[in-house]
Amino acid sequence: MSRGILVTGAAAGLGRAVALAFAERGDRVAVHYHSRQADAEATLNSLPGNGHTLVQGDITVAARQIADTAEEALGGVDVLVNNAAVLTTTETAHPLAGTSFEHWQRMWRESVDVNLLGAADMTFCVARHMIERGVAGHVVNVGSRGAFRGEPDHPAYGATKAALHSLGQSLAVSLAPHGIAVASVAPGFIATERVADWLTGERGAELKAQSPFGRVAEPREIAEAVVYLAGSQWASGAVLDLNGASYLRT
Ligand SMILES: NC(=O)c1ccc[n+]([C@@H]2O[C@H](COP(=O)([O-])OP(=O)(O)OC[C@H]3O[C@@H](n4cnc5c(N)ncnc54)[C@H](OP(=O)(O)O)[C@@H]3O)[C@@H](O)[C@H]2O)c1
Repeated sequence: MSRGILVTGAAAGLGRAVALAFAERGDRVAVHYHSRQADAEATLNSLPGNGHTLVQGDITVAARQIADTAEEALGGVDVLVNNAAVLTTTETAHPLAGTSFEHWQRMWRESVDVNLLGAADMTFCVARHMIERGVAGHVVNVGSRGAFRGEPDHPAYGATKAALHSLGQSLAVSLAPHGIAVASVAPGFIATERVADWLTGERGAELKAQSPFGRVAEPREIAEAVVYLAGSQWASGAVLDLNGASYLRT
């Protein structure tokens, strides 16, 4: 049966791969984007099947509007994928000993606003629709290995991803009586456009060597796990490590 899927931050990268994986299963996808309209249109146009739509908005201020628009356009959102985030790029780096206080504060606030509060608000607005419609919905959060391994150059990223995992686990318990499952993926490095420059030269070789497979993930490998979690009520509460054995937590 075709389901309605809202993927935040799906203009490119992992979000695009997730949108494609759901569409290939026959689902209807709301491709959400913030600033990259042309890329989001390219994602939309690449999707097989019918009933897909574009939804624009900043999740830090417009979560309700994004959720309502997707709900109406899809005829109901059955799965929310919280994928939008402030990433670990060269511009967002804020190692304590080598950054100004102003940049430190900006990165913390932006990371908390988008990675945690944005996802929390999106989940609130979409889950309330699910509860009203009485659907056995799913929320899948895109977390990170960095929550466990640490992010020395991007501590706000690591901390907000840890908080996102924790949010998912709390909501897994509180939403289960409504039939809604909540789970997270915790990927290691993924070869997306946003971080492509990290994968060249010596730094790229170091990143690949973190895994005994000698490589980083392809977006598709993570997207398939998101689709699995969005179909498994019994995986609710899980934080699924997807890092090619590059970090083994106990
Ligand atoms: N790449 C990796 O190595 C890696 C590893 C572990 C986890 N992850 C996670 O995977 C997810 C996708 O990452 P990616 O590599 O595919 O990077 P990406 O293409 O930059 O995806 C992040 C998306 O978040 C959106 N976004 C940022 N701020 C927003 C805001 N205020 N409101 C709405 N949307 C906003 C961006 O939208 P616009 O572009 O439209 O502005 C962007 O499309 C993220 O959650 C990231 O933390 C990535």
